[in-house]
Parts: sequence; structure tokens; C-alpha cells
Amino acid sequence: MLIDTYGRVATDLRVSLTDRCNLRCTYCMPEEGLQWLAKPDLLTDDEIVRLVRIAVTRLGVEEVRFTGGEPLLRPGLVSIIERCAALEPRPRLSLTTNGIGLKRTARALKDAGLDRVNVSLDTLRPDVFKTLTRRDRHRDVLEGLEAARAAGLTPVKVNTVLMPGLNDDEAPDLLAWAVENDYELRFIEQMPLDAQHGWKREGMITAGDILASLRTRFDLTAEGTDERGSAPAERWLVDGGPHRVGVIASVTRPFCSACDRTRLTADGQVRTCLFATEETDLRAALRAEGDAAATDDEIARIWKRAMWGKKAGSGLDDPAFLQPARPMSAIGG
Ligand code: 5AD
Ligand code: SF4
Repeated sequence: MLIDTYGRVATDLRVSLTDRCNLRCTYCMPEEGLQWLAKPDLLTDDEIVRLVRIAVTRLGVEEVRFTGGEPLLRPGLVSIIERCAALEPRPRLSLTTNGIGLKRTARALKDAGLDRVNVSLDTLRPDVFKTLTRRDRHRDVLEGLEAARAAGLTPVKVNTVLMPGLNDDEAPDLLAWAVENDYELRFIEQMPLDAQHGWKREGMITAGDILASLRTRFDLTAEGTDERGSAPAERWLVDGGPHRVGVIASVTRPFCSACDRTRLTADGQVRTCLFATEETDLRAALRAEGDAAATDDEIARIWKRAMWGKKAGSGLDDPAFLQPARPMSAIGG
């Protein structure tokens, strides 16, 4: 098992498949994009499947979430999912995507064994979408969402980040839309993970703000946390249910003590936390040859050792907090 010194067990693996993205969300990337990882540095499809297999068969991982950057940009995605779905025990498989291109691939992803998707969408207004993501692709995202629902990648969850002065007035409209379209909406507090280091605590839209705004139009009853107890979203029943809304308050109500995550970057580094400042290299072990070649057991051991060093919390509240060197797009959401 991937257990740490605080007794937490990581059963949820997030795998970043690429650091590239076709959007430029202002809370994530600068307009010009970033220096992308070089192709030889990225794990190959085979290397990814091997690590997922080790995680699932030797380390107790039960759920695998593919992220990016934008994971739909990874050419081998469908086959990676197919191969992961064939593992015993079969992990639950989900994908966090910006939805662009999902219209074309939702069916193939479902057929390959993908269970669910989380689609990021911050606004219902095409012009605000363009300002926020610096791309005119609002329609593609809406179509991607519909395709995901039609393909049965359900429950389709929608992730929303509210930004002051841009879309912070949209929470009730987004919830009405999500209820009508049968998407499960989750608001995520903006975190200090942008490449430009532009995050400021002052002025950020908090879980408290979001709930107050939603309550101007909806009756919300607390439902406790998500199904597994450790999921970060606190959930509320909307107008008595059955629809729910979630709020992921990573900044104002951190859930580190219940964290069940382990993360793998696209270049094969284990991260114990989004906010970790240290990483553990698995790629070198994967690629060592001859006498140095690592067995599955050895790789599992390195991974376990990395998780044993997981810190108690994100350190966000510590005045000495340092933003990790990698931005969100290179860590995976
Ligand atoms: N703070 C909060 N959420 C973020 N995301 C990307 N960057 C940030 C940030 N700085 C969200 C995306 C996506 C998910 C992977 O994380 O909108 O939904
Ligand atoms: Fe791309 Fe996601 Fe970053 Fe937006 S938040 S630029 S969709 S990686």
C-alpha cells in the first residue's frame, strides 16, 4: 500500500499525460504558453501502462484519473485507457479534460473502458470564455459535454473556477444550467499553481462567497463529503435534490488530512501533493538497462518510499509557503 507517516493511504492515482494544452486559462498559463516538456522526456504509452499496472496490482491503487495539460492531446490516450481497463483488479478510470475534442472521442473513450469525465467550464458566456481561456472555443466545450453525457461517461462532472471580475457573478446561472443538463457542478477555489505566480489570497473567490451567491437562488442542504469520504468536494443537495453541487475549498477549507492521492507527472515523477516541492523520479528506474534494470518490485518500493515522505498538508497557510516550481498544467489537476 501507499501509506504515509500520518496513516493516509493513497488509492487514487492522477496521471498527467502531457503538459500541453490548447487553452490558455488565465489562472493557469500565460498567453504565450509554456516551455513544454521535450518528447523524449515524456513517458511512453508502455511506460505509463507499466506504472499504472504496478500501482494497481502492487500498491493498492483503485482509481486512475488521467489529466494534463489537456489529456485529449495525447495521441495514445484511447489505447492507454484500453490497456488500463484490462488490468486486474480493474481500476475505475476517469479523465479531467477541457472538453475540446471530446465530441469526436467520447464514444471511443467509453468503448475503451473510460468510466467518467470531469470537464472544465468556467462560464456560460462565450465572450467571457474567450477572455478567460484566450481561445474562442466555448461551443466545442458545450458540444463535448453533450457527447460525454450521450456516450454514458456519467456522472459528467463540470469543474468551475470563479475569477474576480470575470465570472464571479455566474455561480447561480451555472448551477441552473448544470441541473437542467444533468451535469454535476463543482466549484474549485483558485489555487496558487499558475505559471505566472499571479495568485493572491486577497480578492480570491472563496467557498463562502460561492455558497452565499448560490443561496440567493437555491436552497442548499449539506450532504457531507463525496461518496468515498476522502474526496475533496463538500456537497450540497440543490432544492432538496436529487441534483447536487460541490465546492472544493482547497484554500479556505483544506482536506489534506483525508487525502488519498498520489500523482505522476508526464515525465515520470511521483508527486505526493499538488503543492509538493519535491518529486521522486520513476523514469530513471523505468529506463535503466542491463544490470541496473528495475523490477516492478523495485519501482513499487521507490514509489512507497516517496509516499512515506508525504507532508501533512499543503502548507498554504504557512507564511513561508512556496509555490511549487511546476505549474498546474505540468502536475495534473
Ligand atoms: N486553481 C484552481 N483550479 C485550477 N485548475 C487549473 N488551474 C487551477 C488553479 N490555479 C482547474 C482547471 C481544471 C482542473 C484540472 O483544475 O480548471 O478544471
Ligand atoms: Fe489548459 Fe486546463 Fe490550464 Fe486551462 S486550466 S490552460 S484547460 S491545462
